[in-house]
Amino acid sequence: SMNYHTFDPLNTNTISPILTCLTDIYKRYQPINEGNVATYIPELAKANPDLFGICITTPDGQIYQVGESQHSFTIQSISKPFVYGLALGDHGVEKIMSKVGVEPTGEAFNSIVFDEENNRPYNPMVNAGAIATTALIKGEGYEQRFNRILSMFEGFAGRSLTVDEAVFESERSTGHRNRAIAYLELNAGMLEGNLEEHLDLYFRQCSILVTAKDLAVMAATLANNGINPITQQQAVNPEEVRAILSVMASCGMYDFSGEWLYRIGLPAKSGVGGGIIAVLPGQFGIGTFSPLLDPRGNSVRGIKVCEELSQRFKFHLF
Ligand code: DON
Repeated sequence: SMNYHTFDPLNTNTISPILTCLTDIYKRYQPINEGNVATYIPELAKANPDLFGICITTPDGQIYQVGESQHSFTIQSISKPFVYGLALGDHGVEKIMSKVGVEPTGEAFNSIVFDEENNRPYNPMVNAGAIATTALIKGEGYEQRFNRILSMFEGFAGRSLTVDEAVFESERSTGHRNRAIAYLELNAGMLEGNLEEHLDLYFRQCSILVTAKDLAVMAATLANNGINPITQQQAVNPEEVRAILSVMASCGMYDFSGEWLYRIGLPAKSGVGGGIIAVLPGQFGIGTFSPLLDPRGNSVRGIKVCEELSQRFKFHLF
């Protein structure tokens, strides 16, 4: 369509300055092979380390993409801020705040630490908080609850989405640490209801397939006060957008969140599938995909792309 800008090597004189820049960045960072694909979920270990895609989407619906921006991968932890928004819509701020805090842990994404003073996980971006958040999603049973989660993501992406069943089964059968976290939460009264159902929902939300282009549209929806720039549909209320971006800014990159905010200066979220989203409110959303991760579980090329874009175009919020 008219507003798609994709790098076409045969037609270089028509590409925009943004695409020229993204293409340059793609070419310089693609050969960098630092990091490792995630292996703790056996199915994720099959990821192709060479894949690399970048997409920027603006609130007026311009889409700039280079590389493997249409390659599907599992959303993983990038699901967390969006499901947090859905939980806020279901219950309101007071109830959610009493169940899940908003303080960074300074610990790894899968760490087993809790805000014991308040009997809640520290924040919705680490696994402990994300499992507790998913447990709060309303609906009659597993199917209806998952369909609500999936529809919410489809509203953000502006298209139908599917689940990678192999990744789901792989995580479900090996996710003992997440199961342990959920049982500790059940024991402490941080969780209620059917624990195995909550865990299946959590594993399944992580297994939703997206592309870098989808991530950029989702991020642009957050940049656009919750209105999807492609479909013009309201995917989430503006109050929830503020809450989502706040927890992304403080906790979205795990134990790299402080340095990320310092260096790049944008609310962001990573996932072990290799995706990163970053948002400049009012201006654009970035989606990157590269499965090579650093030891914290953040995409190595994705961090480099965002750091370079932020410096080159002075995107830093402060
Ligand atoms: O809970 C897990 O282990 C995964 N499904 C999601 C983790 C994840 O993406 C953490 N990210 N960097």
